[in-house]
Amino acid sequence: MRKFRTYSEVDHHTGSELLEQVLDQRARLRERLAGVRWVVAVASGKGGVGKSAVTANLAVELAHRSHRVGVVDADLNGPSMARMLAVRGRTLEDRPEGVVPPRNEAGIRVMSMELLQEKSDGPLRWREPDTDTYLWQSSMETTALREFLSDVVWGELDLLLVDVPPGTDKIRRLLELLPSLDAALVVSTPSEMSRAVALRSLRLLQDAQVPTLALVGNMTELRCLTCGEGRSLFKADGVRRLSAEAEVPVWAWIPFDPELSEETDGGRPGGGENSGARNAFRSLADELLRDLHRPGRIREEERAGREDP
Ligand SMILES: Nc1ncnc2c1ncn2[C@@H]1O[C@H](COP(=O)(O)OP(=O)(O)O)[C@@H](O)[C@H]1O
Ligand SMILES: [Mg+2]
Repeated sequence: MRKFRTYSEVDHHTGSELLEQVLDQRARLRERLAGVRWVVAVASGKGGVGKSAVTANLAVELAHRSHRVGVVDADLNGPSMARMLAVRGRTLEDRPEGVVPPRNEAGIRVMSMELLQEKSDGPLRWREPDTDTYLWQSSMETTALREFLSDVVWGELDLLLVDVPPGTDKIRRLLELLPSLDAALVVSTPSEMSRAVALRSLRLLQDAQVPTLALVGNMTELRCLTCGEGRSLFKADGVRRLSAEAEVPVWAWIPFDPELSEETDGGRPGGGENSGARNAFRSLADELLRDLHRPGRIREEERAGREDP
């Protein structure tokens, strides 16, 4: 755990040492992610729209298809990946080469603030398991994200999903951090508030020329049991409009589904065999994998050879 450096430590250095540290960090990040085939961000700009639920269910869907999957969650204010992927309470393994994140039942490697936090409802302080030393108290999610990516032993993975905290600035920071981002999935509900923020996020990702960009419409439909079969109360128009405005396809329409919420929040994503939500996650995984395998995409060998800006 000594590899988690704080900003106060950095402050003691002179400018040139700081630059060296930054370069060193970049090199380490590259090295850490060398065994990762595709890095996929799940973002929205907004909180509470279902980013984490989408990340968890997509991760399970991909793992069930025999892909090696890792998940990074650097959301300080609402870390949820350890709970949703059922690794809460598990300890991080501290090896000389770095921190080894726990694997869940489906084989998904998970790194989340929840694994460093002392109590789920406690203040934002972390300490090393088994000792009393506080190691890392930075309140900056971007620092967490950087350290989660560069100090964690991810090993060989097909896909590393990043559950990006709310705030378009977090998306910008992620783009600055990563040697390259292969795909971004932007989650939006049909609400006007979500649409406006998601549009900003999409523009940002388009400017950065992320090769795969798609929308995930969440809570786009609410079935009314007393209104007759198949009647929808919730219009998906917000997501449709967003898709047209940004010229980005919608890869999944996830209905409002209390069971999905209960199962996912309870650490059992990937259930509901024939539910609308489950089918939506299947189609999301299909579309994502199809696009990542699309001929003409920048191949990972080329990516690895690309210079830092
Ligand atoms: N399609 C859905 N139907 C019902 N509840 C949902 C749906 N998607 C997400 N939720 C629930 O809404 C809450 C917020 O979702 P979450 O994924 O934590 O949002 P975010 O990560 O964007 O802040 C969670 O309790 C989650 O289970
Ligand atoms: Mg979340």
